[in-house]
Amino acid sequence: MRLVRHGGHETPRRTRAGSARRVAGAALATFLGAAVLAPAGPAAADSPLRDHAAQQGFEIGAALGVDHLQNDSQFADLAATEFNAATAENSMKWESTEPSRGQFDFSGADAFMDFAQQNNQKVRGHTLVWHSQLPSWVENGNFSQSELRSVMEDHIDEVAGRYAGEVAYWDVANEIFEGDGSWRNSVFYDTLGPDFVADALRMTAEADPNAELWLNDYSIDGINAKSDAYYNLIQDLQAQGVPIDGIGLQAHLINGQVPGDLQQNIQRFADLGIKVAITELDVRIDMPASQSELQQQAQDYRAVMDACLAVNGCVGVTVWGIVDKYSWVPDTFEGEGAPLLFNDDYQPKPAYDAVHEALGGSSDDDDDDDNGGGEDPPPTGPCEVSYSVANEWNSGFTGQVTVTNGGSSALNGWDLQFDFSGGQQITNGWNADWSQSGSTVTASNTEWNGSVPAGGSVDIGFNASHSGSNPEPGSFALNGESCSVS
Ligand code: XIL
Repeated sequence: MRLVRHGGHETPRRTRAGSARRVAGAALATFLGAAVLAPAGPAAADSPLRDHAAQQGFEIGAALGVDHLQNDSQFADLAATEFNAATAENSMKWESTEPSRGQFDFSGADAFMDFAQQNNQKVRGHTLVWHSQLPSWVENGNFSQSELRSVMEDHIDEVAGRYAGEVAYWDVANEIFEGDGSWRNSVFYDTLGPDFVADALRMTAEADPNAELWLNDYSIDGINAKSDAYYNLIQDLQAQGVPIDGIGLQAHLINGQVPGDLQQNIQRFADLGIKVAITELDVRIDMPASQSELQQQAQDYRAVMDACLAVNGCVGVTVWGIVDKYSWVPDTFEGEGAPLLFNDDYQPKPAYDAVHEALGGSSDDDDDDDNGGGEDPPPTGPCEVSYSVANEWNSGFTGQVTVTNGGSSALNGWDLQFDFSGGQQITNGWNADWSQSGSTVTASNTEWNGSVPAGGSVDIGFNASHSGSNPEPGSFALNGESCSVS
């Protein structure tokens, strides 16, 4: 294990992959505890957004507030069910991860990562270098150039290094330009000049060679002076050989004001050979929202989805929150609100249906009548199982099972069954609801891992007792269909 030094203390850097098993139980207890205590949320639709998105290799993401994940099971349920990508709303920002110099706090970021990983969600790391939500020790530190550079390097090294290999995209620098395309004044720009961006990109590449390196900003959705500034900067960076992989258009929009040249703008960035995503979509309405405003909002969501889906390099759309009542909008824009896909009662709004349809879902997925109005059976297909004994002692053992959906459609709920032939008895388990009747063991999805995209897999595990011999189960069935065993 690599050791890093902070102010004289040696702190083991947790290699997250290595400790995934250790944290899984704790994270599960937290999320599941919340999920079990509150009443189950209403189903948004039988085919969640993520299933349709996955079918076209598209990412549909949401910003997730960790406090809501932990304390609101209806929120956590929607987060898990509907989205195949996730961004931490606040918990990876500088003020959260390094509130004082060299003192790192990853409690929120780790909880977010655990949730995203348990739910097979692609993670956007947000954000490393930003003038906002920046602790005062950085902003008002009066550092020299070289000191500030090393403050920035230490921060990037610690944060991006901790999640190396686990974050698909890093928003390396956020909101670096003003509306007129000039550089925004910040402690980074004022002290280091414009090169702080290239430096931060290179530092992140070093800390996590696998992550894609992105810039991100608001009001760059259409073609304007600010998005031109990014267009020029990206070309400069490319000419200098600085790694740059993508640009995030935040898209904090006003109802009825989707820029008409959104798709053209996405296309011009894609034509530079980088990726594009809509990273923080919300569409705010003057409150109270009327029915016609909610219809307009649905059209706006649809327009944004269509623009991204139309361009090859546009990898996905992330909404900045899930339910209206937790959105940052009412706190930030006086008198405005209702900007998201679900209302305060966790019910899908017209905007949800618009996104669903843009992804290829039918508008009435939730009450399909193609089978006479009955419930659709969960789609099933070939499944693959790998079973292993992770640990064994004289009277018991820990078993691990990876279930892969080898079918061509997503699973919406699953039961895995197998038989123990040696009298083994499950004592407890994780990442599934475990039960045993005689020799037959059933593991059913929890509230948050029922949806498994085609090709996706779920890791589950258990402890069991045995009385001497511990033969492995010979066959497994998923939703009644037998699985291949590797
Ligand atoms: C917002 C969060 O949603 C709020 O909870 C927080 O108080 C302030 O920041 N652009 C960004 C996001 O890049 O990080 C911001 O998120 C919204 C604007």
